[in-house]
Amino acid sequence: MATEQQDKAVTETSRSDGGYEAHLERSRTVWDRWSNYYGQSEKDFEPIREAAIDRLALEPGDRVLEMGCGPGVNFERIREEIGEEGELVAVDYSPEMVANARERIEARGWENVSVQRADATTVAFDDPFDAALASLSLSVMPDVRRAVENVSRSLVPGARLAIVDVRPAPSGPLRVLNPLIWRFFRWYANWNPDGDVVGSLEAVFDTCEIADTHFAGTAFTALCTKRAAD
Ligand SMILES: C[S@@+](CC[C@H](N)C(=O)[O-])C[C@H]1O[C@@H](n2cnc3c(N)ncnc32)[C@H](O)[C@@H]1O
Repeated sequence: MATEQQDKAVTETSRSDGGYEAHLERSRTVWDRWSNYYGQSEKDFEPIREAAIDRLALEPGDRVLEMGCGPGVNFERIREEIGEEGELVAVDYSPEMVANARERIEARGWENVSVQRADATTVAFDDPFDAALASLSLSVMPDVRRAVENVSRSLVPGARLAIVDVRPAPSGPLRVLNPLIWRFFRWYANWNPDGDVVGSLEAVFDTCEIADTHFAGTAFTALCTKRAAD
């Protein structure tokens, strides 16, 4: 397992696109650029995100982490579930996305929702969370495996992580379009060609299942659970 992790680290820092730092910097530029249009372009994902949040089975008072929150399109739904006594901490790397998310929080007067501008791969927290959400964000991170490990580290034992993400068409005639689709996503979203979201989730979390697929399998919802305390 240690060797596998080392191999992966080498792959993700020596890759053809310039490696970790270059990817992270491009992420900032790309997502700052889209920050004013976000919400319109991602509307199709709204019911998918909401269903993913439902799978977390949140309860009033829960502390929830959202990695790669963008402008905060998931905040309202999460807050409905955790109530005023819960807490939502969100993280995003794009300063413009963070500004939009903070505007949303201020406009709604939510006192238990906050956003940190940070790299989800390395950010650390003082207290662990009861649940986490990563919606359309893991596959654009500079080191997917490390980001997943960091989410796991940030959770209490037995906690759930819900993921919505995109991937190459796994089967059927659409597969022939995969190279084009991914070139587009690389430009549009700074998608990480070396990341393996499902493989990383399965390697890091105790249990993980693809709970749902969408758009001919090119998008999926997964639910993972961290090992409960012994
Ligand atoms: C497609 S948007 C997803 C926004 C939202 N979660 C949603 O469900 O629509 C991807 C977000 O991930 C953020 N992101 C990319 N790399 C990141 C990183 N290393 N750390 C934190 N956020 C990152 C981007 O800034 C962007 O806002």
